[in-house]
Amino acid sequence: MEIITNSAEETRSFAKKISKNLKPGNILSLYGSLGAGKTTFIQGLAQGLGFRQRVFSPTFVIARPYKIEQGNIKTLYHIDLYRLEGVGDIENTGIEELLLDKEAVSTIEWPEKIEKWLPKKAIKVRLETLGKEKRKITVDLPNSRL
Ligand SMILES: Nc1ncnc2c1ncn2[C@@H]1O[C@H](COP(=O)(O)OP(=O)(O)O)[C@@H](O)[C@H]1O
Ligand SMILES: [Mg+2]
Repeated sequence: MEIITNSAEETRSFAKKISKNLKPGNILSLYGSLGAGKTTFIQGLAQGLGFRQRVFSPTFVIARPYKIEQGNIKTLYHIDLYRLEGVGDIENTGIEELLLDKEAVSTIEWPEKIEKWLPKKAIKVRLETLGKEKRKITVDLPNSRL
């Protein structure tokens, strides 16, 4: 599915709807250039799953867990690979372990960096900047009920 949003708030609210279709074990890979809205989208997912605290990009760590107090998804992992250098890196990051957590949903910014380790089942989200506040968002979720 595909949508055009005209503000960060619209992107968050779209992500909130997407969150209702997620199940434990799902992995979302978020593609898009700097400022496209990957983190903003994850903020919306977190809100939609019931996480009440602030969400911002992990800066000094690669991944941050958000504990969800309601529903069957226990944790939302926010993984940001922007600073990951070299593909050899992933083995020491602990990311693989997070992706195996069956009670969690994992989100990955800059998934290109670990493309060959990404599970095939990962749900691709593409964000494209069309204007100052205009974004095109494509989610490869065929059977979602929005
Ligand atoms: N339609 C939109 N969707 C998402 N973000 C938007 C939109 N319009 C403006 N923005 C702004 O663009 C920036 C996106 O930043 P961020 O989500 O951190 O991007 P990324 O994680 O992809 O680098 C934010 O400052 C946000 O407020
Ligand atoms: Mg980001």
